[in-house]
Amino acid sequence: MSFVEYSEFIRDGDVAIVFLGHDSLMPVKVQSGAQTQTRYGVIRHSTDLIGQRFGSKVTCSKGGWVYVLHPTPELWTVCLPHRTQILYTTDIANITLMLELKPGSVVCESGTGSGSLSHAILRTIAPTGHLHTVEFHAQRAEKAAQEFREHKVSHLVTVKNQDVCKEGFGVTGVADAVFLDIPSPWEAITHAKRALKRKGGRLCSFSPCMEQVQRTCEALLSLGFEELCTMEVLLQTHDVRTVSLPLPDFGPKDGQSETTPNPAPDGTPSAHASVTCRTATPPREIAGHTGYLTFATKPRD
Ligand SMILES: C[S@@+](CC[C@H](N)C(=O)[O-])C[C@H]1O[C@@H](n2cnc3c(N)ncnc32)[C@H](O)[C@@H]1O
Repeated sequence: MSFVEYSEFIRDGDVAIVFLGHDSLMPVKVQSGAQTQTRYGVIRHSTDLIGQRFGSKVTCSKGGWVYVLHPTPELWTVCLPHRTQILYTTDIANITLMLELKPGSVVCESGTGSGSLSHAILRTIAPTGHLHTVEFHAQRAEKAAQEFREHKVSHLVTVKNQDVCKEGFGVTGVADAVFLDIPSPWEAITHAKRALKRKGGRLCSFSPCMEQVQRTCEALLSLGFEELCTMEVLLQTHDVRTVSLPLPDFGPKDGQSETTPNPAPDGTPSAHASVTCRTATPPREIAGHTGYLTFATKPRD
């Protein structure tokens, strides 16, 4: 198992994603002899996981069942241990597209945070690209490096524990793209410019507040970046469910008696008739603002 390559069978040392329900996923480090408790009972790694196919339905000790899925960056994003706020797949998809990331791309990122975006970048740039990620919080940097090793992607990434606003990314003229998710991105734009290739490249900065966006855009323009564009991407999901809608009663037809309503198929009078259908509706609560994504291009030197 690796986050950048699919394997068919679950092995000792892998990460598997246990699917308990649509909004309930749990990452599991597979270890011979270990057990994982779920609300459906115990999963015994040696017998229930190791040697089974990813995607298998596993019956737990209480008789309930779960699916055991191969990890992907998208699944990891919805069940990773949070050490910070993280980026979600709606923003990540647009960042990947607008930064023009592809296999072989060299990317600089700061801060690493919980590594949600990092995993998606690594999957996109594998097998020949490289990610230089900078995180000034020592424990977060170390934890991210440990996860990259466990997820078998550490050959694709260098984690540096330093302040990107003071020391930059530690590389010069190598990056095709730079991504910033820090409170004061405008202080890191000179370092981003230095990290990008001489032939130019793309930059993205994620900020929750418009004032941060304004300062970042001023810094980008003053350093010669072009094609500035700020966007917000909002996800609209729909739940598929069966609804029953009452049919309106417009009264008797001309000349018909009011006392003989047509019965509905179930026998109830037409005044109470309803139509039942499968429909897709937005949930009552929807995900709101995450942040503004500011993109820019560094032209050739
Ligand atoms: C919101 S989190 C990043 C989340 C990440 N994009 C993800 O998807 O998991 C911001 C991170 O930037 C780090 N950070 C803030 N300022 C920094 C700086 N000047 N240099 C390096 N890291 C910084 C913080 O410690 C924090 O871990």
